[in-house]
Amino acid sequence: MAKTVLVTGGTSGMGKAMAIALKEAGWNVVVTGRNAERLQQTDQDLQAIDGHHSVIQMDVRDPDACIAAVNQTRQQFGQLEALINNAAGNFICPTDELSPNGWKTVIDIVLNGTFNCSHALVKGWQEDNVSGGQILNIVASYAWQAGAGVAPSAAAKAGVLNLTRTLAVEWGYKYGARINAISPGPIERTGGADKLAMSPEHAERIRRNVPLGRFGTPEEIAGLATWMLSDQASYLNGECIALDGGHWLNKQPF
Ligand code: HXC
Repeated sequence: MAKTVLVTGGTSGMGKAMAIALKEAGWNVVVTGRNAERLQQTDQDLQAIDGHHSVIQMDVRDPDACIAAVNQTRQQFGQLEALINNAAGNFICPTDELSPNGWKTVIDIVLNGTFNCSHALVKGWQEDNVSGGQILNIVASYAWQAGAGVAPSAAAKAGVLNLTRTLAVEWGYKYGARINAISPGPIERTGGADKLAMSPEHAERIRRNVPLGRFGTPEEIAGLATWMLSDQASYLNGECIALDGGHWLNKQPF
């Protein structure tokens, strides 16, 4: 029987590419997002692929909405095995100019949103006796490097990376679950690239800092995610894989 995965922030960029690739790989796919129009478009695009999917409008900052999304998915597909915490929020702002609400907003989306969805998921695992479930988190190299100009995102991603490792231990023992992370480098056609590469010159500078000399693609991230959620990766737990052309080894993120 097909397993089910929920992808947050799955209506564009890497999230959408992962949703498409996982449906192609035979998963039931549930996509969540905030924007109704983009959800509708994603729904249409996923219809072209054999199998089952649905879309749910919600904000990961709302714990009750996360519980409702997990429960709706369990009702539709029987149980929910896997979650990709892909939803993110970010902007460039010098930290001394950041407002408390700017800080809180990004932390709420990235760190608290990851907790909210993961916590809702594990409650479903408990009720459905799911063993061997999975969570895949999306971080960034500034989770372990400095993130000058993106302090809330860097702090939040550091928290998500630690949560990845902590839950890999806690929920590995308790639920046989695998909790892993991907650290994408500069990836074309994503909100991150659009926001962080502020001009063509800046994008070119980032490109030159990648040893492989190019931005990655959402499809490359999706390929890794599909493998990490597959049985081929059944011994992978608590790991963060950088898929970035060697970018983080070479330079600071920007
Ligand atoms: C300073 C800013 C700001 C900016 C927002 N704020 N943008 N402050 N500079 N450029 C402040 C606002 O003034 C406000 O504080 C607070 O943040 C909340 O802003 P809102 O617009 O009301 O919030 P909201 O509508 O919820 O939007 C959240 C958002 C938005 C994060 C600001 O950009 C968003 O929804 N983004 C989702 C998509 C996204 O960002 N994708 C990129 C992910 S890239 P005040 O004090 O005024 O009330 C990524 C890593 C990439 O994750 C790594 C690459 C290497």
